[in-house]
This record gives sequence, structure tokens and C-alpha cells, in this order.
Amino acid sequence: VIRPPATVGMSAKDIDTPALVVELDAFERNLHKMQAAVGSKNIQLRPHSKTHKSTDIARRQISLGAVGVCCQKTSEAEIMVEGGVQDVLIANEVVGEGKVQRVADLAKRAKVAVCVDRDESVREFEAAAAKSSSTLRVLVELNVGANRCGVESPADVLRIARSIAASGHLSFGGIQAYHGGAQHIRAYVDREAAIARAVRGVKETRALLAANGLPCECVTGAGTGSFQLEMASGVYNEVQAGSYIFMDRDYRLNRDAAGKFISDFENSLFILTTIMSHATPERMVVDAGLKSFSVDSGMPELADHPGWTVERASDEHGLIDLSNRVASFTVGEKIRLVPGHCDPTVNLHDWLVCVRDDRVESLWPVSARGAVF
Ligand SMILES: Cc1ncc(COP(=O)(O)O)c(C=O)c1O
Repeated sequence: VIRPPATVGMSAKDIDTPALVVELDAFERNLHKMQAAVGSKNIQLRPHSKTHKSTDIARRQISLGAVGVCCQKTSEAEIMVEGGVQDVLIANEVVGEGKVQRVADLAKRAKVAVCVDRDESVREFEAAAAKSSSTLRVLVELNVGANRCGVESPADVLRIARSIAASGHLSFGGIQAYHGGAQHIRAYVDREAAIARAVRGVKETRALLAANGLPCECVTGAGTGSFQLEMASGVYNEVQAGSYIFMDRDYRLNRDAAGKFISDFENSLFILTTIMSHATPERMVVDAGLKSFSVDSGMPELADHPGWTVERASDEHGLIDLSNRVASFTVGEKIRLVPGHCDPTVNLHDWLVCVRDDRVESLWPVSARGAVF
């Protein structure tokens, strides 16, 4: 692994750049706030580890009360288990003989669950679990509006759930009903309507399962943009939110019920950059570009100049246009950017540099960086 861009104890101003910086006070407040929110409703938190890809952070979340973590990929799940996480849900479909076997093998070492949305997957997981003598919890994913993975109807869920329950090495774990498309709907009323539709689908499905003697122990889903709505629904009993720990520019553009930008969680993740060129009064360039931040959800914003964003990014350059702006920056100065989208930004870095009171307190490896297989 590449050496970190900082050492523990050093002053934050000496961190090499570009670096991914976690401001620990804000980060810890976010962790506590989410745990308190789910705790008050008796709902379990299974944070999505694809946000941080860090076993250090997963262990902290669990020590505060999270039941375990979600992963998106088999290799991520393996790294989380290796790092001491004992309860992992692969909140995703897994396809291919080798991967299916790895999931079944992993279930020998920890409590492992996986999602399916096809009948063949049940047969594949049963064969793999039999081979490794493991027991696997299997959830059926229901499409509740994201139109990504997931079966379309309660009848599909029932058919697959029956086949899981009838398999010797599998147990029916419930329903995954995650509405990814709702997370960044800006207006609260529209998010509310989207989740209300999802909840109707889940209720119908649960009722059908119950009528057929299949209790649904878990309804899991929800992200940072909508979790309060799922929690209030009376049907979801597990929250999978991930981004709340760091937040990002895209999430902060969501509006709350009062029409204000959401403020439940704070930005705790920044890309620390150095101004490397200021060749004209208008053109300022920082040393971070596409290899340091993702732009799929918009450009990063200057943390200390709300509303100012990186205008253009190339591999290693970020251009900030200062035309019509009153500003005085100097080459060599360090500035913090708020990423547009935290998850893919984290995956571009090897280290999370954790800072408190302007000192580097810890260095956490992005343990599952690149674990996309
Ligand atoms: C299945 C699933 N669950 C939970 C999440 C977490 O959502 P967020 O990071 O927006 O809180 C995601 C994110 O894409 C997801 O795909």
C-alpha cells in the first residue's frame, strides 16, 4: 500500500495533498445522531460500508450499536469479515459460480446474507452452501421504484421465498426494498410520495407472505435521503444508510419538510488540495482532479466558500474560475473541497486522514478500495 499523505500527530496544515480528510468531531456526531435516530424507533442500523470501505469505520459503527454492515460486492464482504465484522448483508445480487461459492464459503466465518431476484440464484446458493456446509440467509429483493434489481411483484417474492425456505442450507431472511431513486429527490413531498409507494408494495408483499405461512423477519432498505420515512412506515425494521457519516454536496442539496436544505448530518469528508497555479487573476488551479474526486453527481464545492465549485476537472487539475468573485488566494495555500458524491470519491484514495483540532489523530486505510469484484 502506498504511504499515507500524513503522519499521526502532524499539524493538519502539513498534510500532503490531495488527501482525503475526515473531520472527526463532525464524523462522530453523524455516527451518534444516526444511531440515536434508529434507536429511538427500535430499528436496527446496518450501515452500508460501500460509503467508507473501511474496517476501522465499520467497527466504530458496530461498537455504537449497528448490527453489522451491508456490502455491495463479494470482495467487500470478504474484507469486512477479515476486518472483524461478524454480520454482513450483501445488499445486492451475486452472479457467477466462483462468486456464489465465495459467498457460501464466507458464511462459514460470519453471519452472511445475500439478496436474490431470480429462481436460479436460489438453486445456485443452495448448491454452493451445501458444498461448503454453511448456512446462508437469503433475502428477496423487491423493486420498489428504483427500477434497478429486484422482482416486480409480491407473487414473485412469495415464489422465491418459498423456494429459499424449502432449501436445506438457506434460510429466508426477508425482503430488501431499497429505493435508490428516491434518495436525491430534492423536494421532501416528492421523496415522501416515492417512499409511500415503496411502503405500499412492501406491505402488500408482507401480507401475502404471512398469508402463506412465511413470516418476514426483516424488511431492509433506506438511505440517507429517506431513512426517516422508512422508519416511520411501520414496516421497515432495518436501515441501510451509508452516506450520513460523511455527507456530500449532492446530499446537502436535498430539502427538508420545511423547504430548507437538509441539515441533519454535517459534511465531515473533505478533499484537501493545494493551489498549484494562479496564472491570471481569474484562473486558479488546485492539485486535485478526476483522480481525486468523482464528478458523477456534480463538481466539488469549496468548503469555505459555499456555492463556489470547481469549474472544470482534468486528471490532476481542478480549475476554479474566480471571474466576478472577490477573493484572494495564493499559490501553495491549502483549501478544502466538499466532494459531489462521497462513495466513489473514497474509492479513489488509499487513506482516510483523520483530523481533530487541526492535528492528524489517525490514519485509516480504505481497506476495500478497489474491491469491486
Ligand atoms: C442497496 C443500497 N442500500 C443502501 C445504500 C445507502 O445509501 P446512502 O449512501 O445514500 O445512504 C445504497 C446506496 O447506493 C444502496 O445501493
